Amino acid sequence: MTPGVTAPAVRAQKGAAEPLVMVTAYDAPGARIADAAGVDMILVGDSLAMVVLGYDNTLSVTVDDMAHHTAAVARAKPRPMIITDLPWLSYHVGTDDAVRNAARLVRAGAQAVKLEGGRKRVAVIEAIIDAEIPVMGHLGLTPQSLHMMGGFKVQGKEVDAAQALVADAQALAAAGCFAIVLEGVPDTVAALVTDAVPVPTIGIGAGPACDGQVLVFHDILGLEDRVLPKFVRRYASLKADAVAAVAAFAGDVRARRFPTDAESYHLSGDVARQLAAPIELYGRA
Ligand code: KIV
Repeated sequence: MTPGVTAPAVRAQKGAAEPLVMVTAYDAPGARIADAAGVDMILVGDSLAMVVLGYDNTLSVTVDDMAHHTAAVARAKPRPMIITDLPWLSYHVGTDDAVRNAARLVRAGAQAVKLEGGRKRVAVIEAIIDAEIPVMGHLGLTPQSLHMMGGFKVQGKEVDAAQALVADAQALAAAGCFAIVLEGVPDTVAALVTDAVPVPTIGIGAGPACDGQVLVFHDILGLEDRVLPKFVRRYASLKADAVAAVAAFAGDVRARRFPTDAESYHLSGDVARQLAAPIELYGRA
């Protein structure tokens, strides 16, 4: 991909030999890491709720939260395209509300928004695109529908559900989505959807046939060591490294090995002598 990734550039990668790469990021250091690693897209995902803010699911995160973290990512001025999740209930109660919320995220630094759901979201997608904001779709295991799905469960496992996913993806593409995330669906269903739409599919737990792949930053880096879904591949164990580093700091402080003379600031000899003099006098009195 060329410098300064855009929605049309991502859209044009449909069927390209090299898959698209997206990672989540929620702050400026994360965005700089994603940029330096050469990914195509940064998703300020509503997974923010779970991996950064400590909630059990994504339902508690707000447009304010998403805008705050999008702005932090955008301040890093990364080359990858910035896409931000519209959180739950920010696009469910009317198209005007949805467009305003999407605009808020764009003003915070997003170049596109992502939202979850199929055919029933077409009107809202069209309204947001009408406001000149590119939209990425999200189908399959859609975490904002946690309670309707009865848990974080793989979707599209039956014939009618798989066919519904294909129809949903075609409706999103026809509505103008420039790409579609496919989460938690069997590999064969992801391949069917990918073949059925003219826009890139970006998979997470959707097998290798998608036009791209996305993973959560903290999962890639092993910043958490909780149970991981089978689709996550950990490329580092930074939580273990971080615990060891902080424990080493604590040990050095307690044993008075930190800070050393070289890690301390010093007065000039003259100032030190002037400050020391009254203390000596006081000591003799
Ligand atoms: O919020 C998120 O991180 C996501 C990805 C899992 C696709 O939506």
